[in-house]
Amino acid sequence: MNELSLFSVGISILEITYIIASVLFILGLKMLSHPLTARRGNIYAAIGMIMAIVATILFHQKEGKPIGNIGLIIGAIVVGTIIGWVIAKRVRMTAMPQLVSFFNGMGGAAAALISMMEFPHVSPELIAESGMSNGHVLAILLGLVIGTVSWAGSMIAFGKLDGWIGDLRVKAMKFVNLTILAVIVVLVAYIMTRDVQAASELTTFIYIIFAIAVVYGVLFVMPIGGADMPVVISLLNSFTGVAAAMGGFLYNNQAMLTGGILVGSAGTILTVLMCRAMNRSLLNVIVGVFGGGGKANTEEAGTVKEITVSDAAVLLSYSKKVVIVPGYGLAVAQAQHICHELDKLLEEKGVEVKYAIHPVAGRMPGHMNVLLAEADVPYEQLVESDEVNPDLPNTDVLVVIGANDVVNPAAEDDPSSPIYGMPIIKARDARNIIVMKRGMGKGYAAIENMLFFNSKTRMLFGDAKGTLQNLVNEVKAL
Ligand code: TAP
Repeated sequence: MNELSLFSVGISILEITYIIASVLFILGLKMLSHPLTARRGNIYAAIGMIMAIVATILFHQKEGKPIGNIGLIIGAIVVGTIIGWVIAKRVRMTAMPQLVSFFNGMGGAAAALISMMEFPHVSPELIAESGMSNGHVLAILLGLVIGTVSWAGSMIAFGKLDGWIGDLRVKAMKFVNLTILAVIVVLVAYIMTRDVQAASELTTFIYIIFAIAVVYGVLFVMPIGGADMPVVISLLNSFTGVAAAMGGFLYNNQAMLTGGILVGSAGTILTVLMCRAMNRSLLNVIVGVFGGGGKANTEEAGTVKEITVSDAAVLLSYSKKVVIVPGYGLAVAQAQHICHELDKLLEEKGVEVKYAIHPVAGRMPGHMNVLLAEADVPYEQLVESDEVNPDLPNTDVLVVIGANDVVNPAAEDDPSSPIYGMPIIKARDARNIIVMKRGMGKGYAAIENMLFFNSKTRMLFGDAKGTLQNLVNEVKAL
């Protein structure tokens, strides 16, 4: 085989591999939409990514030459794989959102670095020789801005979810953020319209844009807190996808382009759904304005009434309809299996049991669905909040297990609350309410929950797993 045909075989193998990788990404993403196939979906997408990386290293050609710096590339892959593997193995299930945020930020940083590396090489000759267009230059600049915002924002989100960065709310934040965005647009337009011999003459502007994008990424996430974090995380995810797609467009790399578009579009769809679930507007997410903005009532109000395990067992066993509201505490306690045992026991006694799933219950999208699927709770038993709410006045007992914010009536009653406007599970409409938690600890939004002081509410204090085990024993003994 002569050199030319070897080259063309290389190119076609590369292209075919990219197509297969893209198909694997799409299949993987589809499978991730259901807990039963999610694990396999992850593996499919990972195989696609490995294929794309290996094929690029083996077959990618630039001006007839194979790619260089192989030692550095493989070294970086090995180091990154080891660090990622160790972190992912060690992370607690409940710290997953922080990890997702961190990994997402790394994707954004990689996309921004690509732009910083490539921009100085752009010249009129290169544009003429390589068929590069102004579109490619714009892709470099957008990759830089979006990737940097995603990196800086994700690092702040990581710090907030991990509890070492607090909220910072300033009244003029919306104005400041919109101004910063306008400055970035003006700088990008300036670079695009300047007549220069080589882009390297404008490298200083690239660093200025980078610095401003860092400030924007930090400022737009700083005021967001409490119940609104999931929305901003999914938005940052979509940013990283879009920034990676810019790199794919720049390098004419189909696998990178498809992967970026899939992450970008999936993240955008999730953000829109989350915005709807939280009753927030997308513009407010982008400029970092959320919730009621005021200071919520964080003081305890009144007294709470308790219930014993045996009384709770009697109440539940002689009910017709029971709705369980699982939350973050159920995940922390890893009480999903014993919870399912309780619901099976009650169903054997003729009680209808449903699980009310709030879209942001727990700490990651679909957290409760995954948790309950792990315990083999049938999917038909899970009901979304807007579906369950109209039926709550006919519900004999609503059992809140380790949930707090998602049943907090302040979202409806208190315009100064940071969660005001967020749709909730209207627990107080049920005939009786049992709340299982360890004490009077607050939820993620760190605000008081008046549901606990409601005359229909009885508190069943203790770790969810232990309490559910005692409840199962009592129900069995009845
Ligand atoms: P939270 O409002 O966070 O409340 C959880 C409650 O569980 C706490 O009040 C805590 O009270 C209790 N708890 C903790 N450990 C427990 C244990 N071992 N046994 C029993 N109870 C325990 O939970 P939620 O109602 O699920 O709401 C989720 C919140 O997280 C929302 O504000 C949401 O916006 C936010 N968030 C969600 C996501 C996603 S995407 N789902 C991501 C980031 C943030 P005690 O300390 O008194 O036990």
